[in-house]
Amino acid sequence: MKKHSTLSFSVAPISIEQQELKLPKTGPAFPSSFKKENTIMDAKRVFIQEVATRDGFQNEAKYVETDEKVSLINALSECGYAKVEVTSFTSPKAIPALRDAEAVMHRISRHEGVVYTVLVPNVRGAERALSCSVDEVNLVMSVSESHNRTNLRMSREQSFAQLSDVIGLVRSTQTAINVSLSTAMGCPMEGDVLTGEVLGWMQRFADLGVHGVTLCDTTGMAYPSQVKALCEAAKRQFPSLELTLHFHNTRGLALANTLAALEVGIDRFDSSLGGLGGCPYAPGATGNVCTEELVHMLELDGYDTGVDLAAIMAASARLPGLIGHDVPSQLLKAGRRLDLHPMPPTVSVPEQNAFASSAG
Ligand code: COA
Ligand code: ZN
Repeated sequence: MKKHSTLSFSVAPISIEQQELKLPKTGPAFPSSFKKENTIMDAKRVFIQEVATRDGFQNEAKYVETDEKVSLINALSECGYAKVEVTSFTSPKAIPALRDAEAVMHRISRHEGVVYTVLVPNVRGAERALSCSVDEVNLVMSVSESHNRTNLRMSREQSFAQLSDVIGLVRSTQTAINVSLSTAMGCPMEGDVLTGEVLGWMQRFADLGVHGVTLCDTTGMAYPSQVKALCEAAKRQFPSLELTLHFHNTRGLALANTLAALEVGIDRFDSSLGGLGGCPYAPGATGNVCTEELVHMLELDGYDTGVDLAAIMAASARLPGLIGHDVPSQLLKAGRRLDLHPMPPTVSVPEQNAFASSAG
């Protein structure tokens, strides 16, 4: 019988140090033989974009100190992500948790190969972001009118006018421009959102020359067949746009929706360490798809994410200490599928030996 590590994961222990001691430093989610037999020769690359310090922290009641944010982002920079959404340049009155955006951006150590992006809702936000030499601005507006008015206190047309000005401002720099379209798969106030409406907003931004669009299921209303249809239509109409999917796990469908998107060729996903996240202006919104659960699933299915799973699990174990409560991550609680547990001491030693030799 193969020997696997016997580790247990728990976010319950009192100190971060103790939690970290319980986590593996390295090690795959599956035995090496599994990978050889079960993965295709050229593993398909999937790009993972971490949003915990933006989508996650914006929603937390406890203020995470700037030093702690910087330390976490620096740790994440070593983990193999394609992109890290560091913070947002929003109104500090609207999102007080991220009021230290400049300080965080200035103090992080940037890792080559990682794109550092920030969320920007208006011209003021873009000016602040450019003063920090971000790699990318991630502009935001909602596909549904009600959510845009609630979240950004503007009509969609007012948002579009602001974001058009932002694009004009940013285009003269080397900074990349992505647009995140919130409520692209359902609005908590209006219900279903038409595919044509999403494609229409994509077209308006594509015409302004943005390099990427993120379709956001802001309040976890998407379901797999809907995701497939929307992604297929978006890919067909905009083959040269970099397309990202942003799922929330509000109704437990985030991984199912990810698989549906993968099936139709999407290779770029936002996700949040520990499953943190939510939208402060969407009633009942909960966390993003959990990064470690996403990477674990993708690795098992033979995808190459570039992300070091053990390292992000160690980083995720730091979160309860920072935000003062448990995180949704199931993987942090249960461990990876082959992090085996010792047999209970109630089973006698001879019985255990007999089991081991028969299983060997
Ligand atoms: N950064 C810093 N301050 C900003 C700002 C920005 N990007 N945009 C506006 N402000 C300031 C203004 O200077 C003004 O300050 P003052 O009261 O000291 O004069 C104040 O905020 C109000 O400005 P106004 O233009 O009237 O904005 P608003 O109150 O209507 O809010 C947004 C509009 C878009 C700025 C605000 O709703 C916001 O930042 N929302 C972000 C929501 C979010 O991030 N949701 C989660 C992600 S989807
Ligand atoms: Zn989100």
